[in-house]
Amino acid sequence: AAAVRPGHYEVAQRAARMEIIPGTTTEVWGYDGTFPGPTFDLRRGSRTVIRVRNELPVPTSTHLHGGVTPPGSDGYATDLVVAEGRGFRPPQGEHGHHDLSQWTFHQGAKDYDYPLEQRAATLWYHDHRMDFTAPQVWRGLAGFLLVRDDEDDALPLPKGERDLPLMICDRAFEEDGSFRYPSRDPSLLVRAGVEDDFMEGVEGDVILVNGAPWPFLEVDAARYRLRLLNASNARRYRLELTPGGRFVQVGSDQGLLAAPVAHDAITIAPGERFDVVVDFSLYPVGAEVSMVNTLGTGAVRDVMCFRVARRATDDSVVPKRLSAVEPAEGAVATRVFDFRRTGQGGGGSWTINGRPYRPGRPLATPRLGTTEIWRFTSDFHHPVHVHLACFQVLTRNGGPPLPTDAGWKDTVDVRPYEVVEVAVRFEGFRGRYMLHCHNLEHEDMAMMADFEVV
Ligand code: C2O
Ligand code: CU
Ligand code: CU
Repeated sequence: AAAVRPGHYEVAQRAARMEIIPGTTTEVWGYDGTFPGPTFDLRRGSRTVIRVRNELPVPTSTHLHGGVTPPGSDGYATDLVVAEGRGFRPPQGEHGHHDLSQWTFHQGAKDYDYPLEQRAATLWYHDHRMDFTAPQVWRGLAGFLLVRDDEDDALPLPKGERDLPLMICDRAFEEDGSFRYPSRDPSLLVRAGVEDDFMEGVEGDVILVNGAPWPFLEVDAARYRLRLLNASNARRYRLELTPGGRFVQVGSDQGLLAAPVAHDAITIAPGERFDVVVDFSLYPVGAEVSMVNTLGTGAVRDVMCFRVARRATDDSVVPKRLSAVEPAEGAVATRVFDFRRTGQGGGGSWTINGRPYRPGRPLATPRLGTTEIWRFTSDFHHPVHVHLACFQVLTRNGGPPLPTDAGWKDTVDVRPYEVVEVAVRFEGFRGRYMLHCHNLEHEDMAMMADFEVV
């Protein structure tokens, strides 16, 4: 992405061909024509304006996932950018949720304003177009935006080439290399009565890390900080190291934990991030260390492989204290959000509190500066994501949270028939935001809601 002047970037969404599967090319729709899009490496408090120019044949909306952004820059589902010279008419009637007054259009480009007044964290940006997020992200519209700050920099964690953002996602390909996706419009799956085939969302049989299938990376015998992001439409992973090893988690969706937590395995749902340290000096030089997905078998069990190439000096340390994470207390209200598929077959719909998504109809009106308890209930696996606000997981089914729930989060893996209680802190801006299931097919099938910070 070109910096046009300090704090101002311009990025074009365009189609381009990339070699993803060796010997074939894939047409991607990418930010700057690449998949993943460019990584923005920015500092807390350095207000940044990103002008997104749409040169694609479809409208887009760009959301900064985990960003504390003013509502006009949140990437609202019906706040669209349309390529220069292209018209667009919102779909009418049949969806029943297309009130014209809720749609806005920007011809050519839109400036997204990111104040970045927030803790250091691994954020990512991706498309959020009404009804089409899943196929548009599948085609490549996603990238990292890292926020750094003095507190995180001052810690002796691995840095530079040993600090790696890893975007994990699955895709399916046709024989000619093009992406295979079952439908142009996932919301049509409901009306076509075939959504039963996509109850779990759309999964692929090739695992990509930073856009490369099952990559192989040479590493020093040293500690590495791996910023794991699950950017898949629907697939959950349980990541483990083989032949053995642990992930020492130092951060979650919204930055540093209070103290490190060691895990033998990490279950990561779509939208979640885990910031972990892996110590490759614990393996002999020449060893191959695989990161595998033990929820998958065959090709989708493999994620990537590290080869410990050489001895190296390493002055990094994982300190016992990382950051001050105060418990989110003093909640002023409790609200319930029930994520459920209602009805059967062609009459079914994916709802929150019994309602399929309609823009401009807030399900909650929390006050700026307050904390609320939000209780998520579910019939299925639903990774629940809240825009703008961050939260702490308080309970799962009335019991304690999981060790992987620690810290400030913006996305939580709600499992079938589970009740997950979180304390959400509303800070930053008043205005309209969204919460939704981050299984992108569920999102496009209307499992989304607005809330308005007042
Ligand atoms: Cu990453 Cu509203 O989503
Ligand atoms: Cu988000
Ligand atoms: Cu869901």
